[in-house]
Amino acid sequence: MSATAVIGLQWGDEAKGKFVDLLTADHEIVVRYLGGNNAGHTVVRDGQTFKLSLLPAGILSPQVTSVIATGVVIHPKALLDEISGIAGRLGSPEGRLLISDRAHVIFPYHMREEAILEQRRQQGEAIGTTMRGIGTCYRDKYGRTHAIRVGDILRPDVLRKRLREIVVDKNVLLKAFDSSHQPFDPDVLCEEYVEYGERLRPYVTDTTAFLHRAVAAKKRILFEGAQGSLLDIDHGTFPYVTSSNASGCGIHPGSGVPERYIDRMLGVVKAYTTRVGGGPFVTELNDETGQRIRERGREYGTVTGRPRRCGWFDAVAAGYSARLAGVDCLAVALMDVLDGFTELRICEAYAIGGERTTDFPSQVDDLAAATPVYRTLPGWSEDTSGVRKLADLPKNARAYLDAVRELVGPKIAYVGVGPDRDQTIII
Ligand code: GDP
Ligand code: IMO
Ligand code: MG
Repeated sequence: MSATAVIGLQWGDEAKGKFVDLLTADHEIVVRYLGGNNAGHTVVRDGQTFKLSLLPAGILSPQVTSVIATGVVIHPKALLDEISGIAGRLGSPEGRLLISDRAHVIFPYHMREEAILEQRRQQGEAIGTTMRGIGTCYRDKYGRTHAIRVGDILRPDVLRKRLREIVVDKNVLLKAFDSSHQPFDPDVLCEEYVEYGERLRPYVTDTTAFLHRAVAAKKRILFEGAQGSLLDIDHGTFPYVTSSNASGCGIHPGSGVPERYIDRMLGVVKAYTTRVGGGPFVTELNDETGQRIRERGREYGTVTGRPRRCGWFDAVAAGYSARLAGVDCLAVALMDVLDGFTELRICEAYAIGGERTTDFPSQVDDLAAATPVYRTLPGWSEDTSGVRKLADLPKNARAYLDAVRELVGPKIAYVGVGPDRDQTIII
């Protein structure tokens, strides 16, 4: 069996979608195993752009089976809309899309709760979530008593009973926080979700059993990470993280496939760093250079349209993420965005309270107090977007990649020089 995982090593949006699409040709199954419609993965092939959120990027390849596995949280309407969008462009994915009956379901009260909780965090301390009900749905999953899974929305009687119990409590809670709260009616919600369940029924199955059979049959499986390692609930910049294991440790719990079957762990980084939402960002550039990166890289969120915060490449953070996931090779994306800079910087260590360290701080206050120790490198003036061979990159661009490799650890397998699948240097 040959399984590959593609995970982001920064704060998301590293171009995972592009590399999953590139590698799909060598795989039979593509699996999304965490997160929900907080993710936005862009794939550009032959000039056509696809923006995927819940659907694995494998959906674009008719010969591939796409799996939305157990660890994903699903907003059924968002998923159905996405399926319709893809069906309109490529034909119905029925028969090649499988959705786990164990995945948890997002309800409107999850979004309402999230909006209230975000507002209540003190000014400047909001997590800056995507407001998709992701964290509040995962909280109900771990709390167990108020959770509903995909399997439940296929059973109207079970769903009605569960919603009648749950919605009472949700209304009490929401009213306590917001006196103008208009109570949810469990029966109305039930009707709406039973209909979603009916429309999703053809896709729903026990994906864990499917994947176990695939492993036994030595099928080639590609795991599509969402978010990024620094947004991992356990290992990221807590509390400014998402509510799942986005660092690669989520593959086993999120899919049911043991990690020992994965023989290639590809870590994707941008040639610089971006972040959306709140939380410390050591190499952030609140100046013209940051603005230039944002414009050149079109750094505006796929999901929420928010401008992404931009900064220099942070090798301390990326090295930490690479070690967390046991990354064996890197894809360095958006290299072309750095064309035309006279000088570039890479953060090779942090200075915290006068001490130099290459360890990634466990406490968010220490990270906020860290100042970057930079290595300065000369830039290049050439346009790299047409380059397809490493040897054809400008000398200074190759030196930049050498520094990334030296400071992060794993060897570089791919370099992205543009959004299109073809704009890739394969090393
Ligand atoms: P993901 O969430 O990790 O899949 O990344 P996103 O799709 O949210 O963001 C990456 C953005 O960069 C998308 O708009 C891609 O089309 C674009 N992109 C990917 N690779 C490259 C590249 O090498 N160069 C440039 N200029 N853009 C790229
Ligand atoms: P992809 O898969 C970038 C960020 C949000 C916020 C934090 C928590 O496209 O890389 P959440 O809604 O998940 O509770 O928000 O996580 N975030 C992402 N940032 N790319 C993503 O996904 C993200 N998914 C969540 O901006 O800071
Ligand atoms: Mg994205």
